[in-house]
Amino acid sequence: MGIAITPKRGEIAETVLLPGDPLRAKFVAETFLQDAVCYNRERNLLGFTGTYKGRRISVQGTGMGIPSVTMCAHELACEYGAKTLIRIGTCGSIREDVKLRSVVIALAASTSANTENILGLHGIRYAPAADYRLAAGAARAAEKLGVPYTVGTVLTEELFHNDPHFTDKWAAWGHLAVEMEAAGLYMEAARDGARALALFTVSDSLVTGELTTPEERQNSFTDMMRIALETAAGEA
Ligand code: HPA
Repeated sequence: MGIAITPKRGEIAETVLLPGDPLRAKFVAETFLQDAVCYNRERNLLGFTGTYKGRRISVQGTGMGIPSVTMCAHELACEYGAKTLIRIGTCGSIREDVKLRSVVIALAASTSANTENILGLHGIRYAPAADYRLAAGAARAAEKLGVPYTVGTVLTEELFHNDPHFTDKWAAWGHLAVEMEAAGLYMEAARDGARALALFTVSDSLVTGELTTPEERQNSFTDMMRIALETAAGEA
């Protein structure tokens, strides 16, 4: 049994979608999963298991930031046997060509966080990367569904309200967007022998200052959920 996730063994599927917001987990379960059952309410981190196109899939709210997502990922992989972890989150674009409401597929994630040292990888800078098959599957699903997307590197920050003048430099180094979990998820999954992917809806632009409305966020989030579910079900 975990600390954040506490059901009985066997109640969680091998493939788990990971939104930050637990109410998004509930939305995915109610909108897309058949016979969904809520297995976790610990700390309001709602988790559900159901089926999508006949495949057993769970969706687990994680909360925000590296500490919270790594805690959930570790417990899912090590206590409950999860093998595939797909984050579905939001990000802030730092490039003009990464448009609001489009989807970002994070092939890799740089970070300001010290996670690799905490994990015991002293002396090296780890390269947190997505599982290739999942990333390729997500790109195929986005094509099939006609959802605009970009594939590349994101920056996992520890601070949401950071000084905006950093972003030009990060963009010049090839980062598409900023968010707060992907690098932690990729490192934790690697440590735990699971495969991982992080997908994002672009909810705001740090270039133009544009912000999606709650309704736009919901709609574009739904596109990303479909991509994640098709990827998870191996349909793409
Ligand atoms: N910064 C960090 N994380 C985010 C942002 C942002 O601007 N937007 C959505 N998640």
